[in-house]
Amino acid sequence: MVSRLEIEAQNIIKRMHSQDMDVGGVLTQVTGGQGTGKTSIMLSFARYTWQQYPEQKIFWSECYKAPLQSLKGGMKNCHFMVADTSGVTFHDRNNKLEDVTDFVSPTYFTFSQKENGEYDFSDLYEKAKPGKINVVFFGNRYIWIDFIGWLRDCGEWVHVYIEEFAEIAPTNPGGELWKKMIAFADILKDVRKCMINVYTNTQTPAEVDWRIRKKYMVRIYLPGAKVEGHGYTRVRQNAVDNLLRSPKGNEAYIDHAGTFGKTRFMDIFKPDYQYHIDARVTKKVEESNGEDAS
Ligand SMILES: Nc1ncnc2c1ncn2[C@@H]1O[C@H](COP(=O)(O)OP(=O)(O)OP(=O)(O)O)[C@@H](O)[C@H]1O
Ligand SMILES: [Mg+2]
Repeated sequence: MVSRLEIEAQNIIKRMHSQDMDVGGVLTQVTGGQGTGKTSIMLSFARYTWQQYPEQKIFWSECYKAPLQSLKGGMKNCHFMVADTSGVTFHDRNNKLEDVTDFVSPTYFTFSQKENGEYDFSDLYEKAKPGKINVVFFGNRYIWIDFIGWLRDCGEWVHVYIEEFAEIAPTNPGGELWKKMIAFADILKDVRKCMINVYTNTQTPAEVDWRIRKKYMVRIYLPGAKVEGHGYTRVRQNAVDNLLRSPKGNEAYIDHAGTFGKTRFMDIFKPDYQYHIDARVTKKVEESNGEDAS
């Protein structure tokens, strides 16, 4: 027998993938303990998109100096893209960080900022391949805020996946960064209207700026997740603490607009041991970009 909670979970997942303009895009947070399948859920959504809508573009934001997670979706499904002035190179973690940039053979793109502060990402957008995960490196993760802003006007359904979202939308942003967070919250407010799906993951929701957290439309809680509190969701911490962990698929709660369901994610993406690669910004460019370069 299928439970009411399972049906509710399936309805929410269906809504997330719906491409009805009237329903619009979603901003999703996936959260859970370390190694509970946050990245796997994002990859399973990405795969659904590249299979169902092979003409659409998927963009993926990775961390620097950490094994590339998109590779769990299969090397053949990834298209690596690097900003030509970023100084980003790729390194083999199985082989003393040997430079493997040539092997990864990224597509290089240019992007520019106009005097009024607006960016032009058209070269990146045109060179991105539909039906693949376009794993993009700007050399500075905050540029994703501007890129998502720009995507609002691209006029097509697009999908953005952001690993470790707290690196892009940190809580208590210092210096001028808080202004950028206000602008980002504004951009994310438009996601639903602009046919963009933004999927994020984070281990600790509180590490993400509260202005951004307020904009999440769908929240997925895996085992070990910390629930953000009553104002944000009806899912309760003690319920999450009782989620089952299983090598065949962890259970999860999924919350959308006042309703929630429970399901089990059985699409499991494992590392491909052939490829243990990371991306890094070369020292020279890191210095010229300042502390926040990566
Ligand atoms: N739904 C799942 N249920 C059970 N095990 C899973 C699931 N998805 C992935 N795994 C296993 O757990 C490992 C870690 O998965 P994944 O990288 O998706 O987790 P994560 O939460 O993103 O981890 P991290 O905290 O390191 O970012 C995978 O390599 C796989 O072996
Ligand atoms: Mg992960």
